[in-house]
Amino acid sequence: MEKNNIHIDIKNVFKSYSIGKKKVEVLKDVNWQIERDSWTALLGASGSGKTTLLTLLGMLEKPDSGKVFCGDIEYDKLSKRQSNRFRNATIGFVFQSYHMFPELSVLENVYLPGMIGFGVKNYKKKAMELLDKVGLKERMHHRPSELSGGEQQRAAIARALINEPEILLADEPTGNLDSVTGKGILSLFQEIHNEKSGRTIIMITHDPNVAALADKIATLKDGQIITQTDK
Ligand SMILES: Nc1ncnc2c1ncn2[C@@H]1O[C@H](COP(=O)(O)OP(=O)(O)O)[C@@H](O)[C@H]1O
Ligand SMILES: [Mg+2]
Repeated sequence: MEKNNIHIDIKNVFKSYSIGKKKVEVLKDVNWQIERDSWTALLGASGSGKTTLLTLLGMLEKPDSGKVFCGDIEYDKLSKRQSNRFRNATIGFVFQSYHMFPELSVLENVYLPGMIGFGVKNYKKKAMELLDKVGLKERMHHRPSELSGGEQQRAAIARALINEPEILLADEPTGNLDSVTGKGILSLFQEIHNEKSGRTIIMITHDPNVAALADKIATLKDGQIITQTDK
């Protein structure tokens, strides 16, 4: 792998949680390099630490030790303000359970991160275009609860794209959906991945259909990334 093509570089990352007196070591010396514009499926047993690893990549949590680089940027070297700004501009997140604000319309949910974003002009127009792209143009003024699971996930994907992030992180995005709806979501990701602008996608999954679409498969086991197979 050419060095300048590495988008995300994780070096010697450790992360544990303490519940009372009990310490759970989740990530135990993770080393992982992710190529720019690649699509990686992240597999691993339930409880193996996939979500934990994704939250570190998404700057939602910090490792106990070790380093995370995005290009030349080392996460830990950024101030709180810089990391908020960097995260908002660079990273889009899609969660298994959508995480929409129930009191806002679908349109408002999608443009909210654009409002607090930096440099995205016309975020409302952009949100409408994205909702059109994900097939929800007619539903934009509805509340999330009025949408099906698949539609909410489409809206969540539009929201994740509002600031045109270089990196799209998805935590079991088809996990709550039936297989037909899930396939629709996956083809949307595929469309996003094939766009000219390019985008690095890391998607946690149990779904063999996802693994089949991805460029790379990584597996988290015993606190480490143990395989990364070129297909
Ligand atoms: N905030 C937390 N506090 C305490 N333990 C946690 C926390 N988040 C995750 N864990 C524990 O860390 C382990 C890994 O969790 P997680 O990253 O969610 O795994 P996965 O996504 O692979 O199912 C589990 O044992 C889980 O109970
Ligand atoms: Mg998880």
